[in-house]
Amino acid sequence: MKNPYIPIPVKVEKIIVESDDKALRTFNVVFCNEKDAFDFLPGQFCELSLLGKGEAPFGIASSPTEKGFLKFTVNRVGVVTTTLHYLQEGDKIGLRGPLGNNYPVEKFKGDSVVVIGGGFAFTTLRALTVYLLAHRSDYKNITVIYGARTPDLLLYKDELSAWEKREDIQLWLTIDKAVDGWEKRVGFVPTVTKEIAPSSKNTWAVVCGPPIMIKFTLPVLSELGFPPERIYTSLERRMKCGIGKCGRCNIGLKYVCLDGPVFSFEQLQKLPKEE
Ligand SMILES: Cc1cc2nc3c(=O)[nH]c(=O)nc-3n(C[C@H](O)[C@H](O)[C@H](O)COP(=O)(O)OP(=O)(O)OC[C@H]3O[C@@H](n4cnc5c(N)ncnc54)[C@H](O)[C@@H]3O)c2cc1C
Ligand code: FES
Repeated sequence: MKNPYIPIPVKVEKIIVESDDKALRTFNVVFCNEKDAFDFLPGQFCELSLLGKGEAPFGIASSPTEKGFLKFTVNRVGVVTTTLHYLQEGDKIGLRGPLGNNYPVEKFKGDSVVVIGGGFAFTTLRALTVYLLAHRSDYKNITVIYGARTPDLLLYKDELSAWEKREDIQLWLTIDKAVDGWEKRVGFVPTVTKEIAPSSKNTWAVVCGPPIMIKFTLPVLSELGFPPERIYTSLERRMKCGIGKCGRCNIGLKYVCLDGPVFSFEQLQKLPKEE
């Protein structure tokens, strides 16, 4: 059995700067040793580690249907994320994973899925959308509502353009305030969700984004008829071990790293309120 505390070596194959302020970078990494490759599902995360700096959890932004690499998008906020931003293509780092649970893509089969994202939390939602498209005949309607403060802060712009051209996915992009040249929606994600009003019939919703966005999107989904057990989200908590041992990430009796990070709102309603 592999020691879950020992990182495996991965090489940074490609770096994509996602935003003009350079605070968002995407890293495609490849396994240095093929034998380390693993299976995973959308929603799971990994701990990325840098010698002498530490490690931090990041959602896997690629879908398991994309072979040969793993994708992570990193927002620069502190020690580990800033050091990751200094990496060059070809550099090696450590990785532990896959960790946590996944979006219940098996449960979604035969139904429609509405994916709602805000800001850079779109990472595992990208993984989910790519996965659903790769298994397109297993699902009915796929609707993606994705918002950011400005057009520049939308991740994966080339891919969004490609999805816009497809007829088997409805993509709605929105930004907070109108800017010259933007011809799509303007307004916050909850408002746009209300306007688009996706049908809740035989439909699952997955919502990730800043807490304020989630707070205001939930009542909209309820109004549209989505029950709490059909709405999923992914929680971000401070983590250390990522494998349910250190007690750093728990909410009541649940470990976010092990029982989550993906929870339905029905499950979250049963957890103690966070201070
Ligand atoms: C399951 C999971 C998936 C994640 N996926 C992504 C992802 O795909 N992309 C991404 O950019 N980030 C993601 N994060 C958040 C990321 O792990 C943190 O930003 C990272 O740990 C910060 O490390 P640091 O050393 O750079 O910051 P530090 O130097 O440790 O801290 C810098 C600042 O960030 C705050 N901070 C650090 N971690 C968190 C956190 N988890 N929640 C709130 N505030 C925090 C600190 O309080 C401090 O103010 C995820 C977190 C979890 C738990
Ligand atoms: S991070 Fe250690 S128990 Fe979850």
